[in-house]
Amino acid sequence: MTTPRALVAGNWKMNGLKASSSEITHLNDLISTSGANCDVLICPPFTLISTLVAMGAKNVPIGAQDCHMNVSGAHTGDVSAQMIKELGCDYIIVGHSERRADHGESNDIVKAKAAAAQEAGTTAIICVGETLQDREAGNTLNVVSSQVRGSIPKNAPAAQTIIAYEPVWAIGTGKVPTAANVEEVHKVIREILVDRFGADGKQVKILYGGSVKASNATELMSVPNVNGALVGGASLKAEDFYGIISAYDKIG
Ligand code: 13P
Repeated sequence: MTTPRALVAGNWKMNGLKASSSEITHLNDLISTSGANCDVLICPPFTLISTLVAMGAKNVPIGAQDCHMNVSGAHTGDVSAQMIKELGCDYIIVGHSERRADHGESNDIVKAKAAAAQEAGTTAIICVGETLQDREAGNTLNVVSSQVRGSIPKNAPAAQTIIAYEPVWAIGTGKVPTAANVEEVHKVIREILVDRFGADGKQVKILYGGSVKASNATELMSVPNVNGALVGGASLKAEDFYGIISAYDKIG
């Protein structure tokens, strides 16, 4: 069976005003001119989704960074997956470690959000990852395994599920795990996915995230069971992000 087609996804986090739309234009042009041997996605803040979708940059689909677990209701300030889908997004990130930490999102909450994303017809990009404390205590595989098992919804379709492994200590720090460390964690995630989905679990993408940049992308993206990247800082500028996308020119 073939490996899943890779996805290089940008998470702009709480960055970007309307002027940032020029980065989408530039990225779209770079891909038109030089191609991309992977799927591409940008997840801007909610405030920019409509603007960026309306640009119609065909090489740069737009996704969202979070959603509420309910379809509608009295949830001031929240946004539902249906609302996001209606804007033209096919992907929603859920359970990012910044949301797990800043908003106290448990595996159960992440699971409910992922279910909402999938029920709305989008693909849920479910984030997991250990803290430095977990890693130093030798708990990485236990923590990541229980996050993966605990965050995938009961009726999740494999085709609408993506896992992003992002070690918390590697996010925005310039520190990255060794290729061997990444391989070990992704292998365990793959085993859980196959256990859960059968053969379809081999087709679920497992992204790596945490200080990915053009200079380390080829090495990280070549690791077995790494099917793409979830990129923060280096996704904000089209040139930097395209440098990561073009790592796939060198990977078979
Ligand atoms: P950085 O690429 O800035 O380390 O962020 C990774 C991340 O959190 C993407 O979701």
